[in-house]
Amino acid sequence: MTQLNLAVIAGDGIGTEVVAEGLKVLEAVSASAGLTISTTDYDLGARRYNATGETLPASVLAELRGQDAILLGAIGDPSVPPGVLERGVLLPLRFELDHHVNLRPVKLFPGVSTPLAGKTPADIDMVVCREGTEGPYVGSGGTLRGGTAHEVATEESLNTRFGVERIVRDAFARAEGRRGKVTLVHKTNVLVHAGSLWQRTFTEVAAEHPAVSTDYCHVDAASMFFLTQPERFDVVVTDNLFGDMLSDVAAMLTGSLGMLPSASLDERGKGMYEPIHGSAPDIAGKGVANPLATILSVAMMLRYSLSEPAMADRIQDAVDKVLDRGLRTPDIMSEGMTEVNCEAMGDAVVAAL
Ligand code: IPM
Ligand code: MG
Repeated sequence: MTQLNLAVIAGDGIGTEVVAEGLKVLEAVSASAGLTISTTDYDLGARRYNATGETLPASVLAELRGQDAILLGAIGDPSVPPGVLERGVLLPLRFELDHHVNLRPVKLFPGVSTPLAGKTPADIDMVVCREGTEGPYVGSGGTLRGGTAHEVATEESLNTRFGVERIVRDAFARAEGRRGKVTLVHKTNVLVHAGSLWQRTFTEVAAEHPAVSTDYCHVDAASMFFLTQPERFDVVVTDNLFGDMLSDVAAMLTGSLGMLPSASLDERGKGMYEPIHGSAPDIAGKGVANPLATILSVAMMLRYSLSEPAMADRIQDAVDKVLDRGLRTPDIMSEGMTEVNCEAMGDAVVAAL
């Protein structure tokens, strides 16, 4: 591909700050490779909602469908009640664009401290394959009968054979390009209906991949093993809600939420790329956010939506170099390192390219 039509949703809080650095790096890496980037900004998130009451207008969704990829900063602000932007913007994007694979690579970078004593980058290198279009996130069938002492609330979790099978297949395919192990995480001892569907599908797909080894953990045990034996995990496949929780646990292994990129992919590899962190209103506007998760999300975009692994590798190498030189944003600062702000970190990655 020589031309990339990129939708940019910088969003709220630190979203705009980190996206600016991601785009800077994308420009730098693409210029030398003959790739032309054409960006279109979409104003979605708290600002738009507070000004107009709109979340994701149909016309915007239609335009987004036509773009090659989406780069998203973060959406969310304390001025908007919880759920409005999540259910109004983020989740409809995932569902409408069929982003069924929510891919979250968890990697400890050399020289960055992890809270886990004695663990090294060789121990912390996994990818969470989180299902992105089903589970309790669908929000179907729930009821809230409130207002009395007998108030009842239910939340339904949607699991289809089609949805489970495609994420499980994706996980096995990814494991073949990695260390060859897939761990299913669920709660089959309590959620017996969905658990049975996931377990049977997993076993059937595993039989087609004899070279890939398999493992199963209940989600509670997996949370513990992430902290005690992260080296046990290569590819983790799990449902939407467990994947949400586990990816935050895993993120802490890498020292900071600010280090973790993600890709939400459809079946043709089109996708939305975003740091897994949120809008962080507490540090927004101060210029101190860590842009590396966004920069690494740009690398994922080059790898998965543009099939440009060499360009993606160049960005990852540049990030390695910058960390190796001891540059740190406050979230990953440790003794003897040099503290830099968001913009300086972006500039340093560009320089390293
Ligand atoms: C994430 C976030 C979202 C999720 C929220 C903001 C709806 O936590 O991308 O992990 O739960 O998926
Ligand atoms: Mg989350």
